[in-house]
Amino acid sequence: MADYVLAIDQGTTSSRAIVFDHSGRIVATGQLEHDQIFPRAGWVEHNAEQIWNNVREVVGLALTRANISHVDLAAIGITNQRETAVVWDRTTGKPVYNAIVWQDTRTQSIVDELGGDAGADKYKAVVGLPLATYFSGPKVKWILDNVDGAREAADRGDLLFGNTDTWVVWNMTGGVEGGVHVTDVTNASRTMLMDLDTLSWSEDIAADMGIPLSMLPEIKSSSEVYGEGRLRGMVPGVPIAGILGDQQAATFGQACFDVGTAKNTYGTGNFMLLNTGTEKVPSKNGLLTTVCYKIGDADAVYALEGSIAVTGSLIQWLRDNLGMFEDSPDVEWLARKVDDNGGAYFVPAFSGLFAPYWRPDARGALVGLTRYVNRNHIARASLEAVAFQTREVVDAMRLDSGVELTELKVDGGMVANELLMQFQADQLGVDVVRPKVAETTALGAAYAAGIAVGFWSGTQDVVDNWVEGKRWSPSMADDERERLYRNWKKAVTKTFDWVD
Ligand code: G3P
Repeated sequence: MADYVLAIDQGTTSSRAIVFDHSGRIVATGQLEHDQIFPRAGWVEHNAEQIWNNVREVVGLALTRANISHVDLAAIGITNQRETAVVWDRTTGKPVYNAIVWQDTRTQSIVDELGGDAGADKYKAVVGLPLATYFSGPKVKWILDNVDGAREAADRGDLLFGNTDTWVVWNMTGGVEGGVHVTDVTNASRTMLMDLDTLSWSEDIAADMGIPLSMLPEIKSSSEVYGEGRLRGMVPGVPIAGILGDQQAATFGQACFDVGTAKNTYGTGNFMLLNTGTEKVPSKNGLLTTVCYKIGDADAVYALEGSIAVTGSLIQWLRDNLGMFEDSPDVEWLARKVDDNGGAYFVPAFSGLFAPYWRPDARGALVGLTRYVNRNHIARASLEAVAFQTREVVDAMRLDSGVELTELKVDGGMVANELLMQFQADQLGVDVVRPKVAETTALGAAYAAGIAVGFWSGTQDVVDNWVEGKRWSPSMADDERERLYRNWKKAVTKTFDWVD
């Protein structure tokens, strides 16, 4: 009797496997970090083979800790860092280059060239996205243009592309021995190559980028059986039945199934998604139009997304590059030593600025400094930056959708930070609510897979299992709230035009 569903969350900093039971409760977890490779300023890479090995290891860890084996699993769901591009040879199973990570900005000149006179919005009506270094398509073009022999191998039909969902599923289902080459609509919607209306690859855009269609995975729904695990993936015979990009998975796990419901995930970056139903809403205010999920044959549901590149990774940067503390959660302890930011504002435009600005020329700035400012203020300014950026996205959502947020559902690693959550409620002027199970990304992927095989009957089970954990209500005076935000906006303008 299969009593459990396994979710694999292949994230930006680590890969995790989590075993869930029927009530959506976590039974056991395995987690391993992988290397962050920074060959040059602005470049960010991962070793895709290391990622695959880590995935296998964390699956083994989670099953061992749960004291179960693969026969106890009803299904496996995959969720992943989106946009990160892996290109590999289907005959050897080897990547031809490191995975180029979503934060990487090396494709700026490709993106400028593709836009030409039409500019950044050239493909927006079709794909819902502005031309930016963030998305996968231009990263694939970079690999084909720059790796010896890659273009020829691609033209021969030997190379495959995928975000890390596709890479993991291909390996898990057999790799060179018949691995299935698939992705789901949510991941495909982050490549700049998928037509949002037809949910199929745009041949025109692929041709503009010089990407052969033979490299592209088959686009499937987010909840259906794609294939079965093989022994090399540690899970022989178990159906792989759900794929969702990590932010869409969190939206699913947060039970945002009604039009107008939204969640905000605090990870390496922040990503807010607002369910807009089966109608796609174009953005005029710097948001992305993206696929939220598609269950089997049902219509696709769309979302507006506010993507912020750097939030949790700013705290990692304080830890790793400045050595300000040993463990990321200690940032709260430092920030609590002072009552305010001391006049300092930190705009972490490390990958340019994403939503709502889309300014690739922006670089980070710490402004408002005097002799008075110490590292505690900088810790506080860093946490405040997370909340200010979120407020900018919420403002854009209101303008684009007309939806007035009444509360914000949050998840992700940083929601353990009480100071940040209180400041977030203060900045937004609405309640911030954390669910009891904060691992909503993995949970969403588990639900998508479990629904496909009948382990759960449908989205109502997700709604029924969602339980509120903690709530923060705004308590800051309006004039103070606005003064801080005004200063933040001023600080943002100091980050522009740094790339020449
Ligand atoms: O779009 C990038 C996003 O999917 C990465 O999420 O949680 O790995 O930082 P995360």
